[in-house]
Amino acid sequence: MTKKKFAAIDTPVPLLREAILVRNITDMAGFAGEAGVDLRPHVKAHKIPRLARIQVNQGAVGITVSKLDEAEAMIDGGLKDVFVASPISGPQKIKRLLRFAEKAEISVVADSPEGIGALAREAGKKGTKLKVLLEIDSGNNLCGVLPDEGALELARQIQGKGSLEFSGIMTHAGHCHDARGPEKVQAIGRQEGQMMADLAANLKKEGLPCPRVSVGSTPTAKMAGMVKGVTEIRPGNYVFNDLGEVSLGVAMEEDCAVTVLTRVVSRPTKERCIVDAGSKTLSLDRGVKGGTIFAGYGKVKGNAEIVVSRLAEEHGILTLPPESEIKVGDLLEIIPNHAGLVVNLASTVHVIRNEEPWEEWKVSAVGSK
Ligand SMILES: Cc1ncc(COP(=O)(O)O)c(C=O)c1O
Repeated sequence: MTKKKFAAIDTPVPLLREAILVRNITDMAGFAGEAGVDLRPHVKAHKIPRLARIQVNQGAVGITVSKLDEAEAMIDGGLKDVFVASPISGPQKIKRLLRFAEKAEISVVADSPEGIGALAREAGKKGTKLKVLLEIDSGNNLCGVLPDEGALELARQIQGKGSLEFSGIMTHAGHCHDARGPEKVQAIGRQEGQMMADLAANLKKEGLPCPRVSVGSTPTAKMAGMVKGVTEIRPGNYVFNDLGEVSLGVAMEEDCAVTVLTRVVSRPTKERCIVDAGSKTLSLDRGVKGGTIFAGYGKVKGNAEIVVSRLAEEHGILTLPPESEIKVGDLLEIIPNHAGLVVNLASTVHVIRNEEPWEEWKVSAVGSK
């Protein structure tokens, strides 16, 4: 059962243990320092400008975002170097991106002639030079071109536009989340890094030097980041970790900084209790596709025999051993399958320092635009 000292905290709410958070941040910053690569964490995992500032204070060169709403909140929060790692499409969005470039160092990806043309047009109208990285598909089958199918031509197109600066190449091996076991994850990370280093070397031979060769996810950052020629890693969820990383064997439960604090609101039968965290709090994420080792929508901390077996929007349905003494009013902590989704669904997280409630941090970089 969760400690009585959390009783004053209203539920449901994500708890963030400061000590684990700081350990995760310094561990990744230490790796980047030793490997000689820049750390540019993806902040979509936490969406908290204050946390991004801690990452930068601990050595990150800047941040990565996927949405302009995230970028705006982060720039308002004092972040000065922002990489938008999703292709931006539509004139409103490109104009908005270029307005950000008045306040911060901005770079963005592109992976199509249309995308490159649109960025070049709007940057040209504004009379600025926008930094653009070419997105490469390293096996995730999402955005990005294959290295030997169009990469050289698109890199040339970026370089050829007077209003754009070809700043390098980036990839995200998100398919590592489907891998079974740490060896598979490591192999994907090595392949991600090597493929990008080889492509950068080829582009250089063609007169297209890549100042940035940007790779990484939480599971692959430490493998891909070791490959010679890679210059930058972009892990995101490493600040929190969750049952996804635990299932993949790249983190332990003790490395998970986020839990959801929830209260038992009903015990209708011996085998079932109901808590106030449903799908609007825990999300419907069932964990990594590579075969989670946990049943259900999260794991009740310290109670391995309880299963979070079903979620309604506002309620979690927990299956209990009949002898369980859990009763209405009790507090439980659930380690989430996917911490980034949980925090994205919350408006604040409650930070726990030295196992005492400490501060509430606002999750402000939300919005899907
Ligand atoms: C482009 C890009 N870079 C980096 C990351 C960070 O990966 P992770 O969440 O595994 O840390 C993501 C996450 O989806 C991403 O989309």
